[in-house]
Amino acid sequence: MFVPKEETRHVRIPEQAARRAPPPHLRVAERPPGRGLDLHGQIKVAHWKVRGPLFPSLHPLFEQFAVAIAGLSDAIAERAVTLGARAYGTARHVANASRLPEYPQETVRDLEHIRLLADRFDAYLQGLHQARRIAEEGDDGDTADLLTQAISDFEKNAWFLRATGDA
Ligand SMILES: [Fe+2]
Repeated sequence: MFVPKEETRHVRIPEQAARRAPPPHLRVAERPPGRGLDLHGQIKVAHWKVRGPLFPSLHPLFEQFAVAIAGLSDAIAERAVTLGARAYGTARHVANASRLPEYPQETVRDLEHIRLLADRFDAYLQGLHQARRIAEEGDDGDTADLLTQAISDFEKNAWFLRATGDA
């Protein structure tokens, strides 16, 4: 039987990150995942309910957005935890913390879903911009870089959404 050596049985984390107490500004890194998880659920509702001539484009496009935002939320939450902050992700917490408006459940038409999601994408991006500003003020360039990457990734999705709506 293979027995790993003592030093390989423990997960190693970067020493600096392990020792560092979470700076107050990191509460900002705790927030975007909540909003991102809320938006993920709203995108899935649009994915399930969309009807109309744009269905063949929108159904897979909405799924692509859902996968993208799940990845961003994961990366941001893991950054927060790496630095000693908390990752809030339960449905109860997200329902309390997210400032996105609720998604109207009765919506079915394709163009209406595009309009509703475009508004929510803007709100999500505003939150990321705000989080990045606070990270910069806290002199945490690495978290700010992660948020910059998240912003540029998600701005591309907002463009895909609007371009599809113009068709
Ligand atoms: Fe699906």
